[in-house]
Amino acid sequence: MARLDGKVAIITGGASGIGAEMATMFTGEGATVIAADINQDALDKISENENIHGMKLDVSAEEDWQSLVEKVVNDFGKIDILINNAGVTSEKPITEINYKDWEFLSKINGFGAMMGIKYVAPAMERNKQGSIVNLSSVTAQIGMGLNSYSASKGSVRAISKAAAVEYGKRGIRVNAVFPGVIETPMTKGLKSSEGQLSQINALTPLGRLGQPEDVANAILFLASDEASYITGAELAIDGGYSAM
Ligand SMILES: NC(=O)c1ccc[n+]([C@@H]2O[C@H](COP(=O)([O-])OP(=O)(O)OC[C@H]3O[C@@H](n4cnc5c(N)ncnc54)[C@H](O)[C@@H]3O)[C@@H](O)[C@H]2O)c1
Repeated sequence: MARLDGKVAIITGGASGIGAEMATMFTGEGATVIAADINQDALDKISENENIHGMKLDVSAEEDWQSLVEKVVNDFGKIDILINNAGVTSEKPITEINYKDWEFLSKINGFGAMMGIKYVAPAMERNKQGSIVNLSSVTAQIGMGLNSYSASKGSVRAISKAAAVEYGKRGIRVNAVFPGVIETPMTKGLKSSEGQLSQINALTPLGRLGQPEDVANAILFLASDEASYITGAELAIDGGYSAM
């Protein structure tokens, strides 16, 4: 039996990077996967895999969540797993940040994850079980110059704890992961900066950047029934970066 046999999973930001890796890995483990993303072209591409159902979603729009959950329950009968993975980043120094920048990051990274829980949890509650994994970041734990991004991921960390407490007795587990620097389209700028790359590698005990499958493997465990007594946990997936 595969590790996610019979499960229905929604992965936000599921058309690129870590999300796309999870979508492929989860289908390989027997899940029905809904890759929900704002990028229609990327969705069309990932939906070429006949086991991945691409659906358009802007995580910061409540009405999008409402219709996505209705459609998934209607088409597939239930929701077992939600991975709040969609995210955007910014490297602006604090001196250049204005309200618009703050709002953009916060509404997608923080509010988006909160709305995912708000709309998906009732569907999980009907089956008295569910697993939610939220993508925070090492930048929520230590300063790395990403300012508005760090703040938005700090809110993801706090939301995860709060939701674990609120939903535990209803059978829903909520955990957060804290990736370090992972090679995806989000970090492609690093590739062109040899100095930055070697600095990160030097500061990482395992001495390399993370790969999408490093994160996907850890989330697969938290999403599965193997983690049935784990909620409110915080898992670093950073090659030891935050241990330094
Ligand atoms: N790559 C890293 O180093 C790293 C480190 C720590 C945390 N993370 C987090 O991991 C998650 C995945 O990042 P990634 O590196 O795979 O990035 P990515 O840019 O490859 O993928 C992000 C996906 O989110 C989607 N998205 C953006 N805004 C959206 C919205 N409003 N609604 C729906 N989808 C939206 C994008 O279209 C894209 O498909 C993000 O939350 C990111 O903050 C990444």
